[in-house]
Amino acid sequence: MHVKKLRVGVIYGGRSGEHEVSIASAAAVFKHLDRTRYEPVAIRIEKDGRWTLADRPPTALAAAEVIDQARLSSTHAVRPGREAHLVSYPTQDTVLTIDRGAGGDEGARVTGLGLDVVFPVLHGPYGEDGTVQGLLELANVPYVGAGVLASAVGMDKAFMKIAFAARGLPLAPYRVLLAHQWRDQRDVHAQAIAQALGFPLFVKPANLGSSVGISKARTDADLLTAIDLAFQFDRKVVVEVAVPAAREIEVGVLGNDDPDASVAGEIITTREFYDYQAKYLDEGSVPVIPADLDEATLVQVRRLAVEAFKAVDGSGLARVDFLLARESGTLYVNEVNTMPGFTTISMYSKLWAASGLDYAALLDRLIQLALERHAAKQGLRTSAM
Ligand SMILES: Nc1ncnc2c1ncn2[C@@H]1O[C@H](COP(=O)(O)OP(=O)(O)O)[C@@H](O)[C@H]1O
Ligand SMILES: [Mg+2]
Repeated sequence: MHVKKLRVGVIYGGRSGEHEVSIASAAAVFKHLDRTRYEPVAIRIEKDGRWTLADRPPTALAAAEVIDQARLSSTHAVRPGREAHLVSYPTQDTVLTIDRGAGGDEGARVTGLGLDVVFPVLHGPYGEDGTVQGLLELANVPYVGAGVLASAVGMDKAFMKIAFAARGLPLAPYRVLLAHQWRDQRDVHAQAIAQALGFPLFVKPANLGSSVGISKARTDADLLTAIDLAFQFDRKVVVEVAVPAAREIEVGVLGNDDPDASVAGEIITTREFYDYQAKYLDEGSVPVIPADLDEATLVQVRRLAVEAFKAVDGSGLARVDFLLARESGTLYVNEVNTMPGFTTISMYSKLWAASGLDYAALLDRLIQLALERHAAKQGLRTSAM
């Protein structure tokens, strides 16, 4: 029997600081998608936001390698790919229109391509935050991972905490500041925060990722510097109590409305905290799977991971990160990442491998979940009449 291959649009790159990580994640997706069942299409978002159809899928399997390649090729002029545009009113076989580039006569310049499902392997703002998901909703194409709301809530550390708190999840005490408050009354706010929360504190831009703009403040003077830094990246800043000698525990969640949790893993870092260097350039951090935790804590983190996923109304996948106070054993939910690093050496895929699902099987499952969610939505009424 001949089964039609599913055409999978893999969107990668993107405008965020996690552009390189996304390319590495996409390379792994291309490498492992079963070609007897899927026909992948490489759709690349350049750093300036331009969508292009890549001639070749990416191959570098680690962010450090992508950065090296970019450095090497920066001396050569980058050949612009053919532009691609997602259409917001698709027909049967046109979800994506592709500019054939110069040379053709006007009428033939644009060609259409149908996509059966899209995998937005994008991390950070303009990709993991609901913006691209909104475009995919308009195009009415099934896509892997979180929808608009979950993506947006998962990207905004202030709203994520509201959603977690509403579900009774354990959080480190925190405060949120807006740029205008800081501009007008910085000393008042800094004092109030220090008084309410004490030190040390972690200060973070609300909408970012990759530990960018995050710092630890131990004194009043540190706090001013840390908040100034965070406001360079966002108009909203979250200040939270530092979990003492925090262990970084991570759990993979997979599914739609009734998802499963993977085994728990731990990132052991020799750095002050799990910063950009440690995350992507593999400097001084080692994943340990399963995490060395007692049975009760293992059960608790898996349960809380599913709860956190549901708190943001997740779908498809998410990695839920915890901070565990080393001495007291108190556990805090730190964040959900709705499109976690997705290379074969990323924590998310390793957690599932350790839970009995290899990378190719994980891709199958994610695509199936995307199709299921889309089909369920298609079946809903859209008006009262
Ligand atoms: N409240 C906290 N207590 C201790 N460490 C923290 C706290 N918040 C963040 N960190 C450290 O900073 C890292 C990055 O913070 P996180 O909130 O996860 O931001 P990002 O979205 O950039 O990953 C964490 O992995 C952890 O090492
Ligand atoms: Mg994090």
